[in-house]
Amino acid sequence: MKRLSVLFALILMPAAPVAFADGHAAGEVNAIVERIRKVGAVCVEGDACAAGATAAVAAPAGAAAGGIEGRYNATCGTCHLAGVGGAPKLGDTEAWAPRLAKGMDVLYESGIAGLAPAMPARGLCMDCSDDEIRAIVDYMVDTVR
Ligand code: HEC
Repeated sequence: MKRLSVLFALILMPAAPVAFADGHAAGEVNAIVERIRKVGAVCVEGDACAAGATAAVAAPAGAAAGGIEGRYNATCGTCHLAGVGGAPKLGDTEAWAPRLAKGMDVLYESGIAGLAPAMPARGLCMDCSDDEIRAIVDYMVDTVR
């Protein structure tokens, strides 16, 4: 049966006999056939084969929808995760202490209006509402309280 499938591969795939003559095992020929087949495979939305692609496309949206933490990671995190330009990181008590002393209203205002020179207005999250910015600031501050 294996010989038969190899024979079919030889008939159907012009490239296969070359590989076979090189001394490749039948399994390798089958692997080549499999590889070539996949190039031409059509994957239509709704098919099982399309599920992976749909999931991959949906992933970024899922990350953005991951609540306040997701918002933080996707926007504020650009600077705050690594501490770019002195941006205070999550859980960095020392960096947050002088900021906490200013009071939450000032921190909310810094989040919404920005803080010169390096903290941009809305932390560059242009579609974040004021309430979302406040919630993200709460999330940041909660890690150092
Ligand atoms: C482009 C980089 C950058 C991004 C993006 C960014 N920040 Fe900042 N952020 C900074 C820097 C730098 C500071 C420190 C500013 C300073 O002390 O001068 C800062 C400081 C802050 C502070 C403390 C302000 C204060 O009054 O001490 C808060 C609160 C804050 N950011 C919230 C946010 C939030 C919320 C987001 C996302 C919606 C965000 N940041 C996105 C760079 C950034």
